[in-house]
Amino acid sequence: MSTPYTLRPLVAADHEATAHLLHRSLVQWYQSRLGQGSRFGTSHEPFRLFPAVYAELDPGQAVAACDPASGELLGVCFVHPRKTHVAVGIVATAPAAQGRGLARAMLTPVIAQARRDQLPVRLVSSLLNLDSFSLYSRLGFVPHTLYQDLALAVPATGLPGTAPTGATRVRLVTDPSAAARLAALEHELHGLHREPDYAFFLRNQVGDWRVAVLEDAHGALTGFLVASHHPSCVMLGPGVARDEAAAAALLWSALDAMRGASPVFLVPCTAASLIQQCYAWGARNVELHAAQSLGPVPPSRGLSFPTFLPESG
Ligand SMILES: CC(C)(COP(=O)(O)OP(=O)(O)OC[C@H]1O[C@@H](n2cnc3c(N)ncnc32)[C@H](O)[C@@H]1OP(=O)(O)O)[C@@H](O)C(=O)NCCC(=O)NCCS
Repeated sequence: MSTPYTLRPLVAADHEATAHLLHRSLVQWYQSRLGQGSRFGTSHEPFRLFPAVYAELDPGQAVAACDPASGELLGVCFVHPRKTHVAVGIVATAPAAQGRGLARAMLTPVIAQARRDQLPVRLVSSLLNLDSFSLYSRLGFVPHTLYQDLALAVPATGLPGTAPTGATRVRLVTDPSAAARLAALEHELHGLHREPDYAFFLRNQVGDWRVAVLEDAHGALTGFLVASHHPSCVMLGPGVARDEAAAAALLWSALDAMRGASPVFLVPCTAASLIQQCYAWGARNVELHAAQSLGPVPPSRGLSFPTFLPESG
């Protein structure tokens, strides 16, 4: 059965309905398939942060699918066009409208525009969620990097053991002019350019962000890591590091600043030593994600820490 819908840009008047839709669709999907609906809480209120962040970061880019008769919001798809690629996420369809082509319909014009602009489309999708994996796979997306989602309840007394080498050199930056330097490192390591995202985090006007950098003895940037301290989303990333040692120093510092909280972060599955270090700090696996691309994936060096807010595959 097909659901009639109209597509239009998401507007500020949709934000409350968007928060409800994100909460409802995630709870319903994870509860009905995995018995894990409770991980998204009982209230839509924390989900208000998502449309607020995305409207500030990429105004006018999100796609809304609506019931043509009632105007009810049936689906949302967030889009982050950058000069090297187009990032997509979150995509969500109202429970009653799922499985009827709505998500494909929202993504189709986004993919068509990316093709016209000759840009790859990138996202990070849960490997526990076969509906979303299949949706992207049918549209031609190919997984290229696997990530472990780790959750770590940081003790009030701090992480066990000693700080990794380099942790004392990690420092916070707040000047928006640092965005270009961060973007240049990510471009060098992963071929992606995301300066607007870093300028957004450094402005720190919507959400609650900390941006930490690590430099070597000569002052060259070896990595950076953004942390969301907003109670609606306690998460580390995005970030990049030249090697696992730099990544460990950045992670340790970000976690130490979250004593008493339980942040989630994504670590590339190939970062074997770093993952063992995270377990030693008390991290637990909570999900698996695959970075997927529709279009060429530039060669990658070092590590990346993707996030869902904003999607940074
Ligand atoms: C993931 C989600 C957005 C999909 O939305 P939807 O509107 O139901 O998706 P669609 O009906 O457009 O497309 C689903 C596609 O996956 C295909 N599919 C689903 N399960 C499949 C499977 N096991 N094997 C192969 N294909 C499968 C469907 O056939 C369809 O492809 P088609 O259009 O080529 O026929 C929806 O389930 C949802 O909102 N989930 C909760 C929120 C969420 O988890 N979002 C993703 C992470 S942010």
